[in-house]
Amino acid sequence: MCGIIGYVGGRKASEILYKGIRTLEYRGYDSVGMAIDTQKGIEVRKDKGSVDEVAAAMQFTSMDGSVGVSHSRWATHGVPCKENAHPHTDCTGKIAIVHNGVIENYQELGEALAKKGHKFSSETDSEIFAHMVEDEKKQGKDTFHAFLASLNKLKGSFAIALLAEGERRIYAARKNSPLVIGLGKGENFAASDMTAMLEHTKDFVPLGEMECAVLEPGGVKFYSLLDGKELKKTPMHVDWSPEMAEKGGYAHFMLKEIYDQKHFVYESLATDVSAANALISKSRDIHITACGTSYHAALMFKYLSSKYLGKTCDAVIASEYPFIASPDKDTLVIAISQSGETADTMKALEFAKEKGAKILALTNVVGSSITRVADEVVYLNSGPEVSVAATKTFTSQLAVVYKLLFPGNDFSEIPKIIADSLQKEVEIKKIAEMIKGKQDVFFIGRGLSVPIAMEGALKLKEISYIHAEAYPGGELKHGPLSLITEGVPVIALAPSDDSVYKMLGNIREVRARGGFVISLNNSSEIEKESNVSIKLSSVDPMLHPFAMVVPLQLLAYYVSVARGINPDRPRNLAKSVTVE
Ligand code: G6P
Repeated sequence: MCGIIGYVGGRKASEILYKGIRTLEYRGYDSVGMAIDTQKGIEVRKDKGSVDEVAAAMQFTSMDGSVGVSHSRWATHGVPCKENAHPHTDCTGKIAIVHNGVIENYQELGEALAKKGHKFSSETDSEIFAHMVEDEKKQGKDTFHAFLASLNKLKGSFAIALLAEGERRIYAARKNSPLVIGLGKGENFAASDMTAMLEHTKDFVPLGEMECAVLEPGGVKFYSLLDGKELKKTPMHVDWSPEMAEKGGYAHFMLKEIYDQKHFVYESLATDVSAANALISKSRDIHITACGTSYHAALMFKYLSSKYLGKTCDAVIASEYPFIASPDKDTLVIAISQSGETADTMKALEFAKEKGAKILALTNVVGSSITRVADEVVYLNSGPEVSVAATKTFTSQLAVVYKLLFPGNDFSEIPKIIADSLQKEVEIKKIAEMIKGKQDVFFIGRGLSVPIAMEGALKLKEISYIHAEAYPGGELKHGPLSLITEGVPVIALAPSDDSVYKMLGNIREVRARGGFVISLNNSSEIEKESNVSIKLSSVDPMLHPFAMVVPLQLLAYYVSVARGINPDRPRNLAKSVTVE
């Protein structure tokens, strides 16, 4: 799971690539590198560290040349270090490649190359690809045909960009990993996502599965990897502005994106879901599948559907889906994925499709992989989300879920509910100070509050590294209560709905054991029993999830900052997980 960008045109490539790879750093941030075709041949500079650190130390932008590639890495094979950072080159140094994905048969391919005398300088699966192309070229093929032949030998997943000395071309290809071609005037780009190219173009062609592209300054040609035949592609135009992917004065992308919610949720609520509604009403069974935060939106779908419509459906973690689900031709599988690229979700959909199920995708990224396997797509319209921890795409997912389930309802109150919750920022900052030194935090809720409690716990653990778990309130007494001792924080989601008195009981159970209760409520009874209380506006109980999730996002953010962590880049995690 890494970030890739390539440029060919008339401008100084290193400057364009440096800016672009900074935008892609959320995809991987353990090491960075750049290769430029200079007058002295291909020059590669790379090292372990963040984009800015490595770019400064290696003086990326002092490299001259108008064609190049860059990469930010999230290690899968081999520790983060200079040798394992991309780009990788062949034995001659005349071919440089960057790769995102996993080459499953790299050992076998590497052994065959080693026998022919190739020497490797890294532990990565990726490096062998540069040597494979070198080897094919030795047998008389031109770079394009050597590229094609090598790609056809790879098993696993790849988004690859290749640079060959003196050619003024970028060769790009994909299988199960995203790669988008950006079309400029007299220049062209290839990158892991559109945000890295928005400053230069808004016209894009996402590469399809097993497709490749040859980029020259004057144009781009597309080919099928299977037979090498040229493909016709229609570019799509995207309205996102580069500012939408910038921090806009906020300390971190995450805080900006939390604030963005009050605007973008309008856009999500305005999304046309009529075709998706028709699919939903036609289907006998509904399965919703997703990972991480998106799975919590899937759970909300399930809870709302069964509570308000009396219609039971299954929400299944995508990586588990092939092992426990039995879809057939009367099943509708709703896949929720902000990136539209998550490998686990894609695998679940492949499995469902094989069984004849229909697919409805909810995603934020136009042209992403998920949109290509889906029968119907609903876009979240939340604008680019950069911080690893999903925030605004979650509220957009919720907004779309509500629209899908209750097409006749008026949800115009939602943006105001979010705006009101944002007003709690100062008091939440104080609560963050209270829990920043704790080891464990528990989240409890009942009914519609359960998926939100789970989302609150996920946000907190992923960016603050504090152990956090969520339970339905009733489950406390079946185990977790043994962990509640003096001062252990319990965040109780206790809005005034049909579960409020049961939650009152849970809060008392916690207090009786010395637990420190921070409650989200809109009733004086809950407030009285809590150590600290975050007051929610009085809204339709069905909409409480919107009021509760924003304070929990802010809490996770401020705890992270108080612990000196960069919330935008939690350790070991990545925004778009394109490996299984
Ligand atoms: C990663 C991210 C999470 C995200 C999950 C699913 O683990 O760190 O924030 O919720 O992937 O991503 P998706 O793009 O499918 O919604």
